[in-house]
Order: sequence, then C-alpha cells, then structure tokens
Amino acid sequence: MRSRLFTILVVGALATGAGPAMAADLKSIMAQLGRDMRQVSDGILLGDLEQVAQGAQAVADHPRPSIGQRWRILQGMGDELEGFRQADALVHDKAVELGEAAHAGDRKQALRRYFGLVEACIACHDKYREPVRELMRD
Ligand code: HEC
Repeated sequence: MRSRLFTILVVGALATGAGPAMAADLKSIMAQLGRDMRQVSDGILLGDLEQVAQGAQAVADHPRPSIGQRWRILQGMGDELEGFRQADALVHDKAVELGEAAHAGDRKQALRRYFGLVEACIACHDKYREPVRELMRD
C-alpha cells in the first residue's frame, strides 16, 4: 500500500504534475539537492544522525520543476521518459530508506544507504544530465 502511494507521488515528482512540493527551476532544485547531500555527508562523517535524517528528508521531498520545464521533459524525452522517472523515484526511495536508518540510530546501515543514494544521483546524471540540460536550453 505504502509503496504504491510512493510510486504514484514520486513517479510524478520530476516529470509530471503529481509531486507534493512547490514548483522550481530544475537547475536550482539540483543545486539545492547538492547542498542537502552535503548536509547528509557531513552528518555521516560526524556521526550526527539527526543531521543525516534532516538532509535525507530534504532530498526525498525536493520540489518539482515548473510546469513549463516538466512539459519540455515530457515532450522531449521520448522513450527515455520512463527511465528518467524511475531514476528520480529511485533517489526518492533511497533517501527515505536512509532517513529510516538514521532515525533508527543505525550508523552502519546509514553509511551503506548513503553510498547507495550517491550512486543513484550519479546514475541519473550519467544517463540524463546532458540530454535534459539540452532540453532546458532551447
Ligand atoms: C532523475 C534524474 C536526476 C537525479 C535522480 C538527480 N539529478 Fe542532479 N541533475 C539532473 C539534471 C538533468 C541536471 C542538469 C540540470 C540543468 O543543468 O538544467 C542535474 C544537475 C545537478 C547538479 C548541478 C546543478 C548546477 O548548478 O549546475 C547538482 C549539484 C546535482 N544535479 C545534484 C544531485 C544530487 C545530489 C542528486 C541526488 C540526491 C541528484 N542530483 C539526482 C538530473 C538528476
């Protein structure tokens, strides 16, 4: 049940209109994700799991892009749209799981999940950062 609801909310977060948070510019959303991840990694390094949990939550709840940018993504991604959505959903799920480990006070698990989250960010960048950047430029 819960994961189904996640899917519905999250699949919409970057590419369609169903995300829970305010609209923003994709590039500034990403810049903010970068700051949120620095908060997470500082927390990991300092053993401050409260800070890890806060940063992870901010990553999970990132705002969605403006209608105009979502429209460009929808129009421009073609066959890649589903993969792009899944990459976004994966980051969301991994941020939620990291937050759970942090709340539980499990430092080992938090560290593992932190690595998994970074990998999920980079996986999307490797595949979609350049093409989506091009779409935003037109
Ligand atoms: C679904 C795909 C996707 C995921 C997942 C993703 N990114 Fe990005 N990211 C992008 C795209 C596309 C750009 C280029 C945006 C642009 O230049 O308009 C970008 C750019 C960035 C930038 C550069 C922003 C700038 O000022 O040029 C940072 C920093 C960043 N992402 C951080 C992150 C972090 C941290 C995560 C994981 C928590 C993450 N991203 C997850 C797609 C993604």
